[in-house]
Amino acid sequence: MYRDLFASEPSVVASAPGRVNLLGEHTDYNQGLVLPTPLPYQTVVEASATQGLEVYAENFQELKRRGLEEPKQGDWLDYLAGCLWVLRRRGYEVPGLRAYVRSQVPMGGGLSSSAALEVATLRALRELYGLPLDDLEIARLAQEAEVEYVGVRCGIMDQMASSVGRLGYGLLLDTRDLSTRLVPLPVGYRVAVVDSGVPRRLAESGYNTRRRECEEACARLGVSSLRELSMADLPRLEGLPGPLGRRARHVLTENTRVLEGVRALEEGDVGRFGELMLASHTSLRDDYEVSTPELDRLVEVELRHGAVGARLTGAGFGGATVALVEEARYEAFRQGVLEDYPKARFL
Ligand code: ADP
Ligand code: GAL
Repeated sequence: MYRDLFASEPSVVASAPGRVNLLGEHTDYNQGLVLPTPLPYQTVVEASATQGLEVYAENFQELKRRGLEEPKQGDWLDYLAGCLWVLRRRGYEVPGLRAYVRSQVPMGGGLSSSAALEVATLRALRELYGLPLDDLEIARLAQEAEVEYVGVRCGIMDQMASSVGRLGYGLLLDTRDLSTRLVPLPVGYRVAVVDSGVPRRLAESGYNTRRRECEEACARLGVSSLRELSMADLPRLEGLPGPLGRRARHVLTENTRVLEGVRALEEGDVGRFGELMLASHTSLRDDYEVSTPELDRLVEVELRHGAVGARLTGAGFGGATVALVEEARYEAFRQGVLEDYPKARFL
């Protein structure tokens, strides 16, 4: 705790959750639609004002200090330094941060521990320095910190889910204009997040390759983003070389699945939502090629043990799955999955 380490009380305590994405994968950097939901796990930043950075990360058991003019170092402190950097670039007076960071969000499993850290840090800075920022602006700043300072080319889904999402609701987000709608999740069902036990492999290079492929598909089709296309354009994709047609097809069909999924939830058709989750997984596996044999197997095992729907979640290349399971069947589901896929880790 802050008190034990710094021998004083923190001035503010801020927190933000990790997220799991229910539907709409690899669409957020194509100006598309996504449907994430926050997790009941938080990153907490206890903080006070100071000059420069002085931060303890409980998950790493490490205290680090750095001046604001010092360069980034490719470590966890970059995420906090990036938050100060984006604020100062906007002209806000933010001289520093002394903080104690702790988190229940698993790191590096595709559940957006980094977005939770950025949003919690920005919330702490907002309160400490009385900055006039709303939650949407916090999400934007958090993404800027990750892309432009840390150097990870992510979309804005994770930061939006963490900053403006609400527990128990899907957040329908249109990444073209950042408009949102909260969609209640079905009562009597549980969102099960299950890690495949296999760390993400080559996630960053694979992710960047997919982004490039989408950009190239756009250039060849003469559009500025894949969002300009609809299902009626599917035949046009067949003329694209190599994997480009399949990549674009995933994005177009995935946007449609998000809209259909929201409709299904609003009409109480949980079965249909489950089908769409599986269709999303199949498309990520075959068209977008970001699944792994372990993720495929885990999804299959989850369905066999009663999930209404299941899919890989996040960028893919390893990491976690998300499944929708009837509350009454959850315990049997958990036992069954662990028996048939012992490496599974339930969140
Ligand atoms: P994720 O999908 O979990 O966001 P990333 O690889 O994008 O995975 O980000 C994980 C990185 O974010 C960690 O390696 C670390 O540098 C930083 N991070 C996340 N949570 C914390 C935390 N609680 N304390 C310190 N650093 C953290
Ligand atoms: C994540 C990334 C998100 C989104 C997702 C794939 O790793 O941070 O912005 O692109 O992959 O849907």
